[in-house]
Amino acid sequence: MNVVVTKSYEDSCAYVAQEMVALVNANPTAKLGLATGGTAEKVYPHLVKAYQDGKVDFSEVTTVNLDEYLGMSPENPVSYRKCMDTWFFDHVNIDKANTYVASGLNDPEEEIAIFNEKLYGDKLLDFQLLGVGVSGHIGFNEPGDHLVAGVHIEELDESTIQANSRYFDSPADVPTRSITMGVGDIMKAEKIILIATGDSKIPVITKLLADDAVTSELPVSVLKLHRDATIVIDRELAEKCNYKELEK
Ligand code: F6R
Repeated sequence: MNVVVTKSYEDSCAYVAQEMVALVNANPTAKLGLATGGTAEKVYPHLVKAYQDGKVDFSEVTTVNLDEYLGMSPENPVSYRKCMDTWFFDHVNIDKANTYVASGLNDPEEEIAIFNEKLYGDKLLDFQLLGVGVSGHIGFNEPGDHLVAGVHIEELDESTIQANSRYFDSPADVPTRSITMGVGDIMKAEKIILIATGDSKIPVITKLLADDAVTSELPVSVLKLHRDATIVIDRELAEKCNYKELEK
């Protein structure tokens, strides 16, 4: 697992977007795994800008998103489908028919089958963008005594419900279940980049970078097993996590 330390969160977003643009330019039919969440959100304006500046063409790109809340209508402004449309898809030349965000309204078993078809029906993901939850989750794979490899329904950790309640009227309104890629699905992506920032992520990033441990109690730690996974953090977070590489 590589660690990239940037000067600022804004620079982290620019860096991640630059990597994605380079990937699409090298492979115009790339299949991208995408993420929502407040941290990943700020990557998308950089992608939109690159498109507007004529630096990238998304017309042949396909995408699959990590997750969606169960019971969430795609029309709801806080649904991950709506986020992806308003943050990214509506502003670039991607064919929306080639974008997939799981439906939170469909029968879960049927949706799992559709999700798997989108993930594996043609080719594997060339890239996966990730954020990390305060619980240490990637996608919605929450800590516990085991992890799940494939697409599944996951109960959200209490800390995730609290963290995500900022998008809802109250914590009681946050859906408690989600449909998510499993860690095995994420790990099959050819290249993975995770972006993290902010004080709420100090505990998980500190634990992640402290040693070589891989544990289901810290789902993000599976990235240590991947051939091409990069964690992008800003200097402020790195310092607060006592990330020693800085001193090299
Ligand atoms: C979103 C997702 C989540 C978020 C994570 C961090 O699609 O899968 O894992 O990346 O919860 O969210 P923020 O950035 O809002 O702290």
